[in-house]
Amino acid sequence: MKKQLSIIPRPVSVKYGEGVFQSAMPSIKEDGNFAKEIETVTGQLRGDLRCKMRGDLKKMGYSGQFDEKKSVFCSKEIFNDLKDADETYKLTITTEKISITAASGKGLYNGLQTFRQLVLSEFRDGMLTLPCAEIIDYPRFSWRGFMLDCARYFYSAAFVKNLIDILSLHHINRFHWHLTDDQGWRLPVAEYPLLTEIGSKRQDYRRVWMSHISGFYTAKEIDEVVEYAAVRHVEVVPEIDLPGHASAILASYPGLGCTGGPYRVEDRFGIFEDVLCAGNDQIFDLAEKIFDALAGFFPFGYVHIGGDEVRYNRWNDCPKCQKRLRELGLKKPEELQSWITFKLTEMLAKRKKTAIGWDEVLDDSEKFKLPKETVVMSWRGSEGGIRASGLGHPVIMSPNTAGCYLDYKHLDEPEEPGQLFEGAASVYKSYSLEPVTPEMSKEAASRILGGQCNMWSELIYAGKIAEYMIFPRLCAIAEAVWTEDKDFEDFSARLAVHRERLDNLGINQYRGHLR
Ligand code: ACM
Ligand code: ZN
Repeated sequence: MKKQLSIIPRPVSVKYGEGVFQSAMPSIKEDGNFAKEIETVTGQLRGDLRCKMRGDLKKMGYSGQFDEKKSVFCSKEIFNDLKDADETYKLTITTEKISITAASGKGLYNGLQTFRQLVLSEFRDGMLTLPCAEIIDYPRFSWRGFMLDCARYFYSAAFVKNLIDILSLHHINRFHWHLTDDQGWRLPVAEYPLLTEIGSKRQDYRRVWMSHISGFYTAKEIDEVVEYAAVRHVEVVPEIDLPGHASAILASYPGLGCTGGPYRVEDRFGIFEDVLCAGNDQIFDLAEKIFDALAGFFPFGYVHIGGDEVRYNRWNDCPKCQKRLRELGLKKPEELQSWITFKLTEMLAKRKKTAIGWDEVLDDSEKFKLPKETVVMSWRGSEGGIRASGLGHPVIMSPNTAGCYLDYKHLDEPEEPGQLFEGAASVYKSYSLEPVTPEMSKEAASRILGGQCNMWSELIYAGKIAEYMIFPRLCAIAEAVWTEDKDFEDFSARLAVHRERLDNLGINQYRGHLR
C-alpha cells in the first residue's frame, strides 16, 4: 500500500502508521456537537459517489448505503497548543476506524473535506482503502478567497453553488461574488427596480445568441446560495463596484451620470469613461438602498465596494462635480473618489459592515483618509497591499502578477483561452503566490488576512470554460494560502492524484504543462 494521501492543500503534519483501514463506505457519526456538518458531508458523499461523470454505480461497487459497522467518528477536542485552533482538525486513521476531532464546526468541516478528498480518490470496487495515518492540520491565513465575475457573463445559481462546494473541498472559505459591472447588474434592489429590469440585460450587438449574457439572481436564489455556502463554512462577500464600472447603473438611471446619457448596458469590454456623478447627492441615496439590500441578504461582516479603474474625464468636465470639488476644498477630481469611498465606508459602518476595496481606494486619499479598518485588496501587483499594510490596513493579496488572475492564459500559446498580461499565469506561478513580502515589517505582515484568486469573465462565456481556467490553478492558490511549507515538486505529485478527484466530480480542468 502506498503511503501517500496526496491531499491538497498540503496538511501541516501527516504521520503514517502501520497497516491499513479497509471497509465499504463508512458511515459518518458524531458526538452531539456536529450534526449539521455530518448532514452536509453525508449529502456531499452521496452526490460525489453518484456523480454522473463517474459512470455507473455498479461498476464502482457503491451500494448507495453507508456501512454501519465501520465509521468515521467526529468529536470535539480543544487544541490549546495549536495556532488558529478554530480551524484546526485532527484526522486519525487506524485499522479499526477513522476519527476526526476539532474544536468547532469550521475545523471539523475542514477535516471532513480532507476525508472527502480521500474518498474521491481511494474508493474503488466498493471499498475504501487507506493507510493508517494521523493528520494534524490548520491554515496559515484566515482569508482564503475566490472571486467569480457574474457580471460580464451570467452564471446560474446552480453553477455558483457547485463551485462553492468545490472551493470548500480545498478549504477555500471566502466566496467573493462580483455582482455588478458595466455589462450587467445582478442584484435585486427593491427601491431601484430598473437596475434589474434594464441593468441586467445587455444588447446582443454581436448577435451571438447567448442565453447567459443577461440575468439576475432572485432574492430566493441569493438566500439559497448564502445558506448553501454557510453550511460549507464559506462566507459570501458581495461586491458592488462603485463609482466606476457603472454603465449598467447609468443605463437604468441616466440621471446619476454627469452627462445624463444616453447610456447603455455595455456589450463591449474595457474601461468606460461614464461613471457615477460625484456632484449628485442621489448617488448616495442609491448606495443606501443597495447597502440595505446587501445587509438583508448577506450576513458576513464584509462588503466589497469595488473602486477600481475609475476614469476622471467626466468629473473634470462636469459643472456639478467641479462645484463639489471646490466645496470640499479638493484640488483634483481623483480626490473626489476618496471622498466617495469615505462616505461609503461610513454608510457600511452604520450597518456594522466593514468595507473592502480594490487597491485604488488608497490613491489620493490624503485629505479623505481611508478608515483604518477598511480592507485593501491588492490586485495591481503587490504594491498596493504593501503600502496599505504599512499604513495599518488589513490586506488581502490578489496580485495579477502572481497567478491570482484566472482569466490569464495558462500558457503563452495561441490555442489557450484567456488573455496575456505580462506573460501567462502558469500553475507554477499561482503556486508561488506569497501574500507576505520581504518589504513588510512584522507588524505590517500581521495585517495580511490572506489571499485569493479571481475569475474575471470577459472572455469566459460558459461555466465549463471557467472551470478550465480555474482548475488546477485554484488548487495551487489554495495551498499557497493554507501553508508556508510549500514544495512545487511535491505538489505536482499530489496533483496527479487530485486531478482524478476533480474528474470524478465532473469538473473540467486544464491538463497542459504546469510551467
Ligand atoms: C480589477 O481587476 N479591475 C480589480
Ligand atoms: Zn458629475
